[in-house]
Amino acid sequence: MSLIYKISFSTLLWLILTNQSNAQILSATIEQKVENILQKMTIEEKIGQMNQYNGFWDATGPAPKSGSSKIKYDNLKKGLVGSVLNVKGVSNVRKLQEIAVKETRLGIPLLFGFDVIHGQKTIFPIPLASSCSWDVEAIENSTKVAAIEASAMGINWTFAPMLDISRDARWGRVMEGAGEDPYLASLIGVAQVKGFQGKSFSSNHSILATAKHFAGYGFVEAGREYNAVNISNAQLYNVILPPFKAVVDSGIKTVMNAFNSLNGIPATGNQFLLRDLLKDKWKFKGLVVSDWGSIIEMIDHGFAKDSAEAATIAANAGCDMDMESYAFVDQLTELVKKGKVDIKIIDEAVKRILRIKFELGLFDNPFKYCDENKEKELLYHPRHLKATLELAQKSIVLLKNENNLLPLKKSQKKIALIGSLANDKNSCLGNWRIASDDNTAISVLEGLQNISSNISYAKGADVAIGKTSFVKQTIVNDNDTTGFADAIKLAKASEVVIMVLGENGFQSGEGRSRSKIDLPGVQQQLLEEIFKVNKNIVLVLMNGRPLAITWAAQNIPAIIEAWQLGSQTGNAVASVLFGEVNPSAKLTMTFPRSVGQIPIYYNHLSNGRPNAGNNVFWSHYSDESNQPLYPFGFGLSYSKFKYSNLNIDTTNNEKIKVSVTIKNTSNVDGEEIAQLYIHDKVSSISRPVKELKAFKKLLIKANESKTVEFILTNNELGYYNNNGNFIIEAGEFEVMVGTNSDDVLKKTFNKM
Ligand code: GLC
Repeated sequence: MSLIYKISFSTLLWLILTNQSNAQILSATIEQKVENILQKMTIEEKIGQMNQYNGFWDATGPAPKSGSSKIKYDNLKKGLVGSVLNVKGVSNVRKLQEIAVKETRLGIPLLFGFDVIHGQKTIFPIPLASSCSWDVEAIENSTKVAAIEASAMGINWTFAPMLDISRDARWGRVMEGAGEDPYLASLIGVAQVKGFQGKSFSSNHSILATAKHFAGYGFVEAGREYNAVNISNAQLYNVILPPFKAVVDSGIKTVMNAFNSLNGIPATGNQFLLRDLLKDKWKFKGLVVSDWGSIIEMIDHGFAKDSAEAATIAANAGCDMDMESYAFVDQLTELVKKGKVDIKIIDEAVKRILRIKFELGLFDNPFKYCDENKEKELLYHPRHLKATLELAQKSIVLLKNENNLLPLKKSQKKIALIGSLANDKNSCLGNWRIASDDNTAISVLEGLQNISSNISYAKGADVAIGKTSFVKQTIVNDNDTTGFADAIKLAKASEVVIMVLGENGFQSGEGRSRSKIDLPGVQQQLLEEIFKVNKNIVLVLMNGRPLAITWAAQNIPAIIEAWQLGSQTGNAVASVLFGEVNPSAKLTMTFPRSVGQIPIYYNHLSNGRPNAGNNVFWSHYSDESNQPLYPFGFGLSYSKFKYSNLNIDTTNNEKIKVSVTIKNTSNVDGEEIAQLYIHDKVSSISRPVKELKAFKKLLIKANESKTVEFILTNNELGYYNNNGNFIIEAGEFEVMVGTNSDDVLKKTFNKM
């Protein structure tokens, strides 16, 4: 039986008479309603709201008769569940919501969470790919579409965006983030949140977003999944935290703590992160959810002796909801009764959860996200497929194009297509595609055949073999070369060879760290064998992380980085290869020459011996260059862009004007992403040799020039000191503007 959640007439009258704004009236009424419920709740019901279960159990069949699913189901009926994740489809969501709302004492509706990372049914490019578009509007639209499809399936909460900065391609989850730069990742994160949450939760398409994983997960030691993170305050405040601060300031509603320890303290129980910084200093009013089981994992971290202590630490540190570790629902009632956890801590957490449920409108209509007709109408909608195609086209990075081998001509006869990934309708969907359906991507083979009838395909070799699965790693690199002969024969008889090589969709992503970052299996061998019989090779990379493709970079005439582009992969790749689309993307993560260079990134500090001398005593390797294979911001076009006239106007020292002229010296219209970097040459804490602080993506027609202007304010010139205070220091700054982080024009100015 659900109670009526009204506020007193006198409160409402006071609000109107004191001329409160609508938002203030709404907020005050919600606070009142939250208080009203809280007063009615037992301690068990309060703690039930802090409990989140994984929801495949009951949702797809009759109530379970035994096991943990039976406990979950019974707790749901007792009102001891606040949220469920991974429930697929409106009918299953409705089943669980009906129980929560109609069969429990207070009828408090559930939140339904899902990993809508880069699409729900219609899959967009993996976030690392779309970040290379540097197109925040297109990225915002992609998460808006993802929210439309997710909400049509009954979901009102996505565990995205992932904001973890990383410089380590060994880590499998680099595919899920926006690369190595905090400035760009902050802009992209804010755009993703705007797309997910929309302008207001009154819309049935707006869903809660999650800033994850708070914090430092991308810096796991050795790139090994879930490993310890040890970093300096300078890195924490200037690299890791800015994207989280940006989305908190933009109004994100939830935060997920990370699995990792941060300087010895697990994020789940890290009072400094969750309470002092996030809730107190940044004034975050939403809820903090743990990552899957991360509360109980504090035992393995050696930070809690048992489940009771883990629950105590997490609750006191500021974790509000327990995802799938059962520590809260099993332990907190007793802990409160024993005085180990103050009821005020529980009340504060529960208020955050209830407040969000009111803001979503779930108390007024618990089934607002349960519309079977919408589900039928909106999933894989043509509008959505068009949106993912366009973003995919903008995410393809042209890494090399010797002798203008690209674009291919449609009249070109005898085009060989080689590589199992060319005919793979799943790997290009990436690994975060839990709600989507198998074999729904347009493969590269299909995309090319949509444009040219002169395509002949040979597999050559598989990447990996075995049954792929999100949860289990059951695939192994394939070392079978028996397919080489057919591929070589086809290549010999062809004018040009397109080779699609890279990683299986389940060789990057969570739980997929790799100690090597070369082409898995026998793909490199296949490439070299084909190269022996036909040098006109276009290499199309399909991967979830930067790969060490040094041999290819030295020998193969044309290379595109196509990442994992989602549902419209084949059409996007074909449109670029045949010149229907002029590639404009730029790398957001450095490509190493070898795994031994990692961590390698553009915004690094200098050191005491940065330059080669006539001895060995300088910062270098004896067996490898210090330089990356491809730097941050790198990406070619079918156009050619020339930068000149870099000018800095410091008339107004608070708003420094920077301008540059860019000429498209080719006869092909093209888009260029002009990038502005700064270097604070002398500072109280050494600063990076360059930092991205502005960029402009602009169309420049063939043989035309454009002058681009940037403004630098204290926001761009300051940095966080080791106490987390933002400071600006006078002195000499270098300004660099160019087509990537290495190829720039440079001038200096004095900041007064
Ligand atoms: C996973 C991931 C997290 C995800 C959650 C729910 O382990 O770390 O990003 O949102 O569990 O699936």
